[in-house]
Amino acid sequence: MKRIQLSRDALYRGPLILVNALHGVAFDRPETLTPVADNVLLEKQASSLLNELMREIGGWDSIVPVSGWRSMAEQQAIWDDCLRESGQEYTRTYVALPGHSEHQTGLAIDLGLRGEHIDFICPDFPDTGICGQFRKLAAKYGFILRYPPGKEAVTGIGCEPWHFRYVGIPHARIMEENRQTLEEYTEYIRQFDSPVHPCCIRIGGRAIYVSYVPAAPEETVIEVNETAPFHISGNNVDGFVLTQWA
Ligand code: DAL
Ligand code: ZN
Repeated sequence: MKRIQLSRDALYRGPLILVNALHGVAFDRPETLTPVADNVLLEKQASSLLNELMREIGGWDSIVPVSGWRSMAEQQAIWDDCLRESGQEYTRTYVALPGHSEHQTGLAIDLGLRGEHIDFICPDFPDTGICGQFRKLAAKYGFILRYPPGKEAVTGIGCEPWHFRYVGIPHARIMEENRQTLEEYTEYIRQFDSPVHPCCIRIGGRAIYVSYVPAAPEETVIEVNETAPFHISGNNVDGFVLTQWA
């Protein structure tokens, strides 16, 4: 077994960070931003898997990346413009408070069906055709529909069929199977806090174990099996999620 030491900072980084009205972003610019298209940046791993998904369905011919990473200043400008043009209720439904937008993490992307006019706040992304194909395969590539219908009270945001969030492959699959939002998944994973009873999912015949480790006040130490791949993400709240491949 190998001991991994994690600083307090690590709690606020990784694909499983929960960002919403209660939990803001800790860093304004992710370290590994990569272009998805001109002026649209995403965190490197998210960008690479998004492109793989698009290759599988030939998606970039008909789907446009509308908005990826945003700085705090950009989110503030979007908030201010939307408030002025569309009012308080609409803005609170479809725009996250500056400092509390997933777009600031580089892990979220808004996608729109190519057309003459693309609405920047609420792009068209129907359930049918190429957009439907994208949605069906999203979890296979680690993406979730972050603001699904019926979960508005949980996420605090209106239904957004165009906003996808990268969380990583096993996690997106578990969330899809359980019909969980990231808020619900963050809570659900807390019960798997013993290395003896992790959450288990099989993908392509291979077992993947997911467990939760509460953050220590300063440095957190996690023991991992170094003979197999593993990944650790902060949850941006109070602990870490360890993913270990069998
Ligand atoms: N549209 C989403 C909620 C954002 O502004 O981050
Ligand atoms: Zn969005």
